[in-house]
Amino acid sequence: MPRASSVFVCSSCGHETGRWAGRCPGCGEWNSLVEQLRAAPTAGRAGRGAGGALGGARGAGPAVTPVALRDVDAVEHERLATGIGELDDVLGGGLVPGSLVLIGGAPGIGKSTLTTMALANLCAAGRRTLYVSAEESAAQIRLRAQRLGGGEALAVPVIAETDLSTVLATLEQERPEVCVIDSVQTLHCADLSSAAGSVAQVREVAGEVMNLAKRRRIAVLLVGHVTKEGALAGPRVLEHLVDCVLQFEGERERTYRTVRAVKNRFGSTDEAGVFEMRDHGLVEVLDASARFLAEATRAPGSVVLCAMEGSRPLLVEVQALVSASELVPPRRVVSGLDRNRVALVLAVLGRHAGIGLGTADVFVNVVGGVRVDEPGADLAIALAVASAARRTALTGGDAGHPLACFGELGLTGELRSVAHADRRLQEARRFGLDPVLEPESLGSLRAAVAAALGSGRRAAVAA
Ligand code: TYD
Ligand code: MG
Repeated sequence: MPRASSVFVCSSCGHETGRWAGRCPGCGEWNSLVEQLRAAPTAGRAGRGAGGALGGARGAGPAVTPVALRDVDAVEHERLATGIGELDDVLGGGLVPGSLVLIGGAPGIGKSTLTTMALANLCAAGRRTLYVSAEESAAQIRLRAQRLGGGEALAVPVIAETDLSTVLATLEQERPEVCVIDSVQTLHCADLSSAAGSVAQVREVAGEVMNLAKRRRIAVLLVGHVTKEGALAGPRVLEHLVDCVLQFEGERERTYRTVRAVKNRFGSTDEAGVFEMRDHGLVEVLDASARFLAEATRAPGSVVLCAMEGSRPLLVEVQALVSASELVPPRRVVSGLDRNRVALVLAVLGRHAGIGLGTADVFVNVVGGVRVDEPGADLAIALAVASAARRTALTGGDAGHPLACFGELGLTGELRSVAHADRRLQEARRFGLDPVLEPESLGSLRAAVAAALGSGRRAAVAA
């Protein structure tokens, strides 16, 4: 049952009802009723929450005078540096006072660790901070802080609290400059009957925290969990609300993690930071290319991709395994890449480069737990699979170093150029990987496969 203060409103037709039902009595849509706080009746204006649906009399408030954009003060945002270079870069230079940053990631990826480290640095730099944990006890947070070493993290003030109004009151009283809320799904607003983590709760919690943050100019790092599919659990609604959405990705079993901005009102969404989870917290990986390259194998099925992580070139190893299948349809197992992209590349490889894989299981993986989501990865997928299918190791040049490549594949088998070709080439050359197979010099997938497999055979003969 809803509390006296709440109603259920249909997210499709706006129908309002006092009781929850699986199906909207207004339009018949299933699972569309979302609990909302009842709007406080104010003269002339529909209140917050169910205001739109209530259809209160509008237009009775005082009017305001619009100003031309050139007359609007463009304030340079002051920034609070977290002291974690990779994170500050992704944020566009640090946290902006009064802004809400949502950090989404799977459980165990390191969200609490990263936010604790950021607060520790800010606290050490003399900023007022507060860590609100609605997930762990103060003792658990202390253990993590001890693990981080250095002692700075132990100075961060913390509360372990799940009740929203208590948290808001504490924020009012303590007036931190930076605050972490871990997590938005575990805080609970007592005025709503829905369970913590439900859409209604998450929306209410984030909305209230935002109001306070804007009013008191508190920079808030809001931690959110993501579902298996990668969407922020429940609070997709939050993405509109907050100023910045950071995605924390990686595989829990692996040590590498990337943080990227998918939305940023105060900076670009091009930047990405690479971290490694160590015994004493997250460590920035400043030269990720060198790391990944040092670990690259030169076995059949391996190729180096000159990828772009935002505006930064990154060399990663793409591996493929092709084996006879007993299944119909055969297996396609992909990690770190888009499945549909891989399916497309396999189709083009069969049709235009004579490498048919209809009866084979194909596994494709980006090594190190990194995710590459860009069309420039197509050629690397194709060459890794071709190399695996032909059991030929790919090497670049006479020195026998790993073969590097990049390029997008068209459906007719042509290679298409991708953004930042010069920076990708530069990065490859920095590590002595030359020549690089790329669209400018090759033109078609068939030519690229021939060049790649040819290089391998030459190396085998020379050895
Ligand atoms: P955590 O930050 O609690 O993840 P999240 O808040 O995203 O759920 O930490 C995740 C994992 O990292 C946890 O399994 C323990 C490990 N870890 C380290 O390996 N080293 C460390 O220094 C810390 C603090 C955690
Ligand atoms: Mg956590």
